[in-house]
Amino acid sequence: MPVGILGTGKYSPERRLTNQDLEAMVDTNDEWIVSRTGIRERRIAAPHEATSDLAYEASVKALEAAGITADQLDLIIVATITPDMFFPSTACLVQERLGAKNAAAFDLSAACSGFIYGLANASGFIAMGTYKHVLVVGADTLSRITDYTDRNTCVLFGDGAGAVVLGQVPEGRGFRSFKLGADGSGGNLLCIRGGGSRLPSTAQTVADKHHFLYMNGRDVFKFAVRVMGSAAEEVLEQAGFAKQDIDLLIPHQANIRIIQAALERLELPEEKCVINVDRYGNMSAASIPVALAEAVEQGRVKEGDKIVLVGFGGGLTWGASTIVW
Ligand code: ACO
Repeated sequence: MPVGILGTGKYSPERRLTNQDLEAMVDTNDEWIVSRTGIRERRIAAPHEATSDLAYEASVKALEAAGITADQLDLIIVATITPDMFFPSTACLVQERLGAKNAAAFDLSAACSGFIYGLANASGFIAMGTYKHVLVVGADTLSRITDYTDRNTCVLFGDGAGAVVLGQVPEGRGFRSFKLGADGSGGNLLCIRGGGSRLPSTAQTVADKHHFLYMNGRDVFKFAVRVMGSAAEEVLEQAGFAKQDIDLLIPHQANIRIIQAALERLELPEEKCVINVDRYGNMSAASIPVALAEAVEQGRVKEGDKIVLVGFGGGLTWGASTIVW
């Protein structure tokens, strides 16, 4: 039997950080942010919330939607670059909180592409017959690694989590193709330099702000425009679908201009694309599953629809997938 998505869920922290709020924090303005990125506001985790809390809330909803209980889960994969701590993994923290006592658990690090990497892993385990139900979560609390004195980055990011439960689905439905890619030569374009084994945290690394996300925005932009189009085209071809067959495109939500470039290349009108970057900013691994969960909630996804997921991120990494809903 094919493998597909049995249920989706999402969680967004309450607090909104608007462009007007940012105008009071750094030398920026609403017009610049909207015209360059399409972002109007983002959600920011409360001080007591960490990535596992966001992931847990989204997971509860995904389990409910899938109609299974936590003890029926065989594996939990959390895609994140902002784990609660180095170890234990955030997936283990979520496993404990859900009471998913039969599930194995691990984190996956592929930045904004992490959710698609997670789907590919999970569907492989199910297709092989190793596992029946796998929870895949994309969760990030980017506000904790963002320098709110740096206008180049602080306007871009937000916090959130999205989750899906994967399992067997009837013939004719489910995942049709995956493409995962990486180019480590671009790793320095998007990174956190400090805090790891290369440059352990010290008072000096903190003073030098090496615990914050660093980004070369222009180069990442060019890379993103290139791989979003090519990865989507590759998964379409693998699945035997044409561009015109796409019912819904769910791209990573980093910048409206990157999304528009992908739409142009795929010859798709904007109404065939889920866009929520205006309300959430870039939530890294959470962007695609939150957009998917919203599309499901809004009734934009119907049985038999052909959906393309596509994302890019730090690593550099990229990933795409086609699903028949
Ligand atoms: N407000 C006002 N001015 C600003 C701001 C701001 N918030 N930020 C930068 N500027 C200035 C710059 O200083 C620069 O000024 P200068 O020309 O005097 O030096 C000017 O605006 C133009 O900067 P550009 O780099 O040309 O702006 P660009 O059009 O490239 O947009 C942006 C910048 C939005 C960052 C874009 O490059 C982008 O979206 N890049 C991709 C980002 C991305 O997708 N990152 C993924 C990260 S995901 C992950 O893995 C966590």
